[in-house]
Formats: sequence, structure tokens, C-alpha cells
Amino acid sequence: MLDGILVRLDSPDAVAAHAADLVTQACEQAIRDRGRFTLALAGGSTPKLLYRLLATRKPALDWSRCVLLFGDERCVPHDHPDSNMKMAETTLTGPAGVPHSSILPVPTHLPPAQAAAAYEATLRRLLPEQGPGIDVVLLGMGADGHTLSLFPGDDAAVAESQRWCIHTKAPAPFAVPDRVTMTLPLVNAARLRLFMVTGADKSPRLDAIVAGTQTPPAAMVRQATWLVAT
Ligand code: 6PG
Repeated sequence: MLDGILVRLDSPDAVAAHAADLVTQACEQAIRDRGRFTLALAGGSTPKLLYRLLATRKPALDWSRCVLLFGDERCVPHDHPDSNMKMAETTLTGPAGVPHSSILPVPTHLPPAQAAAAYEATLRRLLPEQGPGIDVVLLGMGADGHTLSLFPGDDAAVAESQRWCIHTKAPAPFAVPDRVTMTLPLVNAARLRLFMVTGADKSPRLDAIVAGTQTPPAAMVRQATWLVAT
């Protein structure tokens, strides 16, 4: 069964608008309570609508008090067209003028396993060892049920229980085989896990997750809020 809340919306624009409201509310609350807001960005294409909206949400979103992380990254240079950092720069951090000091990119200049270890060290310096960690983790889902860069069939990666970041391999035909991804222990310790799932191609997988007949990696994310238009 889907562990969490499912909100069915009419369009990708409605998903982005709803997500922007939830992120903005979480940001204002985190800054009031803790003086800082940590947001893990999702890659792919669905989040682009949200990121363009968030770029217009100043001053509610005080970027100087935010830390932007990456839920996963392709192991390519940050100016590569398949880079999630590149996508975030184009749709959010550039247009919003997010200071570089507020962005923690995955160090993809390192070999993949070293990049994952280095990013984990960065996250462990940023976040508490126990208790709630990242404020909001944005997530997408592929039609195969992958999320982040945790892919069906990579049982070791999905079952990882100690490390916060690992090197995984994306199967063909996904872009860029070598990935760095956050793991479920880190994601499931966040305050809010927010899925955005759009596209009719994802509907059969989503239905199977809701029915409890399939548990792909996306279904292993606990107590998530799912905003869907499929
Ligand atoms: C990535 C993403 C990945 C994405 C899904 C869905 O780096 O590709 O993190 O997990 O969320 O592939 O992508 P879309 O939302 O573009 O369909």
C-alpha cells in the first residue's frame, strides 16, 4: 500500500502550484523554528515547473537562510545537459539568485564512489545524526518505479541501512549510468517527503503501489505526500 497521502490533481501545473505552497510553508516554518531550511532537490523534468515557480516566491523563500541539496545526481560535470545541478541552475538557482553559499552540489568531479562518500561527509556535517534531518526531500518516480537513483532490481542499494549516500548504476535506457543518490535511511528521516508524479506512463505503476501489489523503490519511501497528475 502507498504509505502516505495521495493527492490527485488535474495537471502538472496544479502539481507544481501545490508543491510550491507546501515547500514555501515548510521553509517559513523551518526558518521560524530553526533559522534554516534544508531542501533536497529532485532531478529529471517534472520538477522544472515547481522550480520556476519557487524562483518567483521571494521574499517568502529567504534563499540566504536555505540550503539546497541534491537527492541524486548524475556523475557528469555540472555544466553537462544531463546534470541535475545544471537543471536546477537553469530553472531555480539562477533565476532566483540563490547565493552559491546556499547550494551544496554533489562533487561529480570525483570518481562516483568517492563523490558519494564526500557528499555523505558534507551531509553529516550539516545534519543531526539522529532525529529529523532534511526539512523537505523532493522526489519523482519513473514509470519503472525508481526514485532518486534507486532502481528496481538494485536490492543492495534499496536495502542500504547505514550510509546516507551511495554510488549506483542506472540501467539502460536512463541517461548517465553512474549516479550518486541519497539512500532511504536519510530520506525517510526527513520532515517532509514530497513526491511529484506526472504523466500517463506512470499511472500503471502508481496504481500498483496504491493497491499494494508492487513495492518498487518509490514505494519504500515512508509516509510521503504524493502529488500526482497521471
Ligand atoms: C533523476 C531523478 C529521478 C526522477 C525520475 C522521474 O535524476 O533522474 O532524480 O529519480 O525523479 O526519473 O523523472 P521525471 O519526473 O522527469 O519523470
